[in-house]
Formats: sequence, structure tokens, C-alpha cells
Amino acid sequence: MKKEFDFLIIGSGIAGLSYALKVAAYGKVGLVSKTVLDETNTAYAQGGISSVTYEPDSFKKHVHDTLIAGDGLCNVHAVDKVVSNAPEQINQLLSWGINFDKNKDGKFDLHREGGHSEHRILHHKDNTGAEIQRALIKEVRGHSNITLMEHHFAVEIITQHHLGRVTEPWMQDIECYGAYVLNKKTGEILTILAKTTLMATGGIGSVYQTTTNPLIATGDGIAMVFRAKGIIENMEFVQFHPTSLYNLSERPSFLITEAMRGFGGILKRNNGEEFMHEYDERGCLAPRDIVARAIDNELKNRGDEFVYLDVTHKPAEEIRQHFPNIYKKCLSFGIDITKQMIPVVPAAHYLCGGIKVDLKARSSIQQLYAVGECSSTGLHGANRLASNSLIEAVVFADAAAQDAISVIKNIELNHKIPDWNDDGTVNPEEMILITQSNKEVEQIMSKYVGIVRSNIRLTRAYDRLEVLHRETETLYQNSKVSQKICELRNKINVGYLIIKMARKRKESRGLHYNVDFPDKLMY
Ligand code: FAD
Ligand code: SIN
Repeated sequence: MKKEFDFLIIGSGIAGLSYALKVAAYGKVGLVSKTVLDETNTAYAQGGISSVTYEPDSFKKHVHDTLIAGDGLCNVHAVDKVVSNAPEQINQLLSWGINFDKNKDGKFDLHREGGHSEHRILHHKDNTGAEIQRALIKEVRGHSNITLMEHHFAVEIITQHHLGRVTEPWMQDIECYGAYVLNKKTGEILTILAKTTLMATGGIGSVYQTTTNPLIATGDGIAMVFRAKGIIENMEFVQFHPTSLYNLSERPSFLITEAMRGFGGILKRNNGEEFMHEYDERGCLAPRDIVARAIDNELKNRGDEFVYLDVTHKPAEEIRQHFPNIYKKCLSFGIDITKQMIPVVPAAHYLCGGIKVDLKARSSIQQLYAVGECSSTGLHGANRLASNSLIEAVVFADAAAQDAISVIKNIELNHKIPDWNDDGTVNPEEMILITQSNKEVEQIMSKYVGIVRSNIRLTRAYDRLEVLHRETETLYQNSKVSQKICELRNKINVGYLIIKMARKRKESRGLHYNVDFPDKLMY
């Protein structure tokens, strides 16, 4: 079956939904989401969204903090764009009914996180993402021009190469006409034709064993664009959040927001000693790559399974008021955080690289935009400043929307695209192969391509993944298309890209820390 839209959107997080609301007045919008609309990284965000709001904060300070975290690899134009457009996009979020907490004076209650020189994080308690997701879903559901397709899994984008119609020198001679999308309820693969397509598929955390990301974060968009030969960059920069709740039986790992350290939380060894000042003069509020590596070092040196985050010195009522969800979650495991320390470990959290885009969010493939965590705008460089990703997504969704609206009248749908040909036969009992390979990918990535890397570990990871790649491609060719086999394939593609780019970077920089390049090693 064919479907046709002016704007196709793959993904229902902050990137996809805010873009949908901006383009919907200009044409028919189709939005696909692989499960339900609110199963997204966005919905899990805790800390908040950064924007300069009041003095003494300034754009200059926010730019400076972002560049310092990015360790020399940020695109200054992207940084300027996000920082200076943030206040306007915050107003846009407010106009869509999103509530950010205010203090008694009616001013926004701003939090501070690692690497920020000022309090500049707008938040909704400790579940900012859920609040953003709630309000955006309410808005899109009420829009008559937006067709929402939940439980629809994008399998591949539809492209043609070598047409000789390149519009910008850095772009490729490839055009995108929409996507092949699996309707999970009927098993049918739809041919969705679109004048423009937006990739907004989010992160890759599920490639790792321990992650704060929901398990849908399998890097599908990045893998699809990679297979279509689009440009992918900076994949070696995977951010590990220093503090997820230590609980071996839970995947994804529950995040303990960095705002808790901004609030005064202190990292401690099992014997109660503080340790962060031994690694960085900024202590517990050093950028998160430094904190994550310090914790990793503590765990390896001491043979401990976790360190503690301690807020027991803060007033109990304030803890419950600022962090109600964390309080409840920990209490469900028998930990009263007003009286007891929280056991924490680092977990894969955020990908700084992805589908390369320009300042209009255009990918190297014509008529294909990418926004949000799957994209690489240059904002984050080698390391992301906390709470800079939600704001990046809305600013770049706005840029993509403006560009797509301006070009749409000159683009025709390509009606010559054939339907998907699926003649695979492999039965569901082969699920064991997929389950086992998934576990192997996650282990390889966590053990060899984690917070601390080395050449030998990266080579081993590459060799092991190559075997899995070969096996999985054969299985895929012979299988009926399913979400499971596609996600495994995507995870292997993403793992391959991370390893390949990590091996190519002959230095330690930002989030990429290789003990064989000790020039910038800190301990
Ligand atoms: P997502 O919100 O992840 O949405 C991706 C969408 O793509 C989903 O709807 C998914 O179903 C869909 N999708 C994926 N693949 C397919 C496919 N093949 N077919 C169809 N649909 C597909 N950032 C901050 O700035 N501040 C924070 O406080 C913060 N806290 C965080 C806390 C946690 C626990 C996590 C995990 C992340 C946090 N982040 C935070 C990061 C931030 O939440 C994400 O980077 C951001 O929400 C990504 O938004 P997105 O729209 O790009 O993708
Ligand atoms: C957090 O709340 O610590 C996460 C913030 C982020 O990832 O930006």
C-alpha cells in the first residue's frame, strides 16, 4: 500500500513533534513512531532544558560553557544558533502548554548542572521530559493535518543516486523520496512517499548493556542513513551519564539527575570519603565525562560495584519537593534518599554525533532532514553540556521546518517508486539467534568501547562485530522483515560506526578516552 504526504516524520520525541507542529499549517504531515508516541528518550529526560533567562547569565557564558565541554570540536555557528535562539524556542514551548517550575517570586526556578557556570536549566520537577512529551502529544493529536501512525517501524529510507541534481557542494548526489515502513499490526510494508522526510529517531543507548535510554533507542535513523550512503560523523563521542541507580535487574537503568549534584549532592566512596576533588577542582560539578571516568576509575581500582551519591545533608522536604520521582523510585527499592546514600554507576546516555546536518538541519541527502539526538549539528563537539540536547532539538526542528516549508512547493512526489519486495521465509523460532546476537553486541560495546578505550579493545570489538554483522546480514536476507531483526541490524551498523570512528581518532579528546593516546589523559 502507498501513502503520500508533504512532510514525513520518523520519530515522536521533541524533535519530531515540535517539527510537526511547525509544518502542519503548510501541508499534509505523516508521523511514524515505532511503538507508542510517548516511548521516547524525550519522555525520560529529567534535569531540564537549558536557556539563558536572567542576568547575570548571558549568551556569552552559555556559549563559553558549551565550547569548553565540547573540547575544541564544536561548530561555533551551531553553538551561537542554539544559544541565541533558545529563549524564543522556550517561549514556543510555553505557548504549547509546557509548564516549567517557578519560584515564589514567579520567576523560573533555574537548576544548575555540571559544566554550567550559571543556573540556567528550566525544569518541571525531576520529570521535565515527560511534561514536554505530554504537552506536545496533546497538541499534535488535536491537529487535523497530522496523521499519527503509532506501531509503525521505518525499515529503510527510499533513495535514488546519481541524478545530477546536487544543490549544495557539501551534499551528495542522492535524493530521498520517503520511507518503507512496517505496519506492525498488519505485517504489511507501506511505501510512504513524501516531498521531504525528517529523521528524528533519537539515540543509540541500547547498543550498550547499561544505559539510561529506553530500549527503543537502537540508532535506526543513523543506520538507515548510513546504508543509504549519507554522511555520518562523530560517532566515537558517546556520553556516559555518571549517575544511574545501581540495580542489576533493571534495563534501562534509572537516571539520578545531575541536577542532584547541582543541588548539593556529593559523590562518595563506600567508606563515605568524598573523591571528586582528587580528580578535578570543580569536584562533583565537573563536566560529566570527567565525573564518569573518575567513577569508572574508582570502581576499577577499588573493585567496588558502585559509588554513592549523598544528599542526606540537605533538608528532607526540599529533596522531596525537587526530586519527587527519584525519591519515590529509590523508596520502592527500600532507599530513603533523605536518610540514606544512593548507590550509582555510570551508564550510556547520549550520542553527540550522528547524521551530519547543516545549520538548516539538512542532511547530505537531498530532501532529508535530521533533527534531535540522531543528528550531528556540531553543537556538542566532543562532549555535550548537560541539558543542551532538548534545546538543540527544538531550535533545529524550527530551522528544518522553515527550510522544508520554503522548498516544498518546488518538489514533486516520485510516483515511480516500487513497493517493497519481501520474500523472506525464516520463522519466528529463530528469535533465539536474534536475542543472543543482541546480547553479544551490547557486551562487546560495553566491555571494549565504553568509557575507557584502548587500541587492542577496539580491534577486538571490531573483529567480533564483523562476525555478528555477517551472520545477521544472512539472517536478514532470509527473514520476513520484523522490528527485531531490523533493530539488531541497526545496532550492529551503529556499533560498527562507533568503533570505526573511535579507531580513526588517534588522540584522547572529550568523551573519547583511549589509554594508548595519553597526551590528554588526566589520571
Ligand atoms: P527521542 O525522544 O528519543 O524520540 C525518538 C523517536 O523515534 C521515538 O518516537 C521512536 O519511537 C522513534 N523511532 C526510532 N526509530 C524508529 C523507527 N525505525 N521507526 C519509527 N520510529 C522510530 N537532555 C536534556 O537536554 N536534558 C535532560 O534533562 C535530559 N535528560 C535525559 C534523561 C534520560 C534518562 C535520557 C535517556 C536522556 C536525557 N536527555 C536529556 C537527552 C534527551 O532526552 C534526548 O537527547 C532527546 O529527548 C532526544 O529527542 P529526539 O526527539 O531526538 O528523540
Ligand atoms: C540529567 O538530568 O542529569 C540529564 C541531563 C542531560 O542528560 O542533559
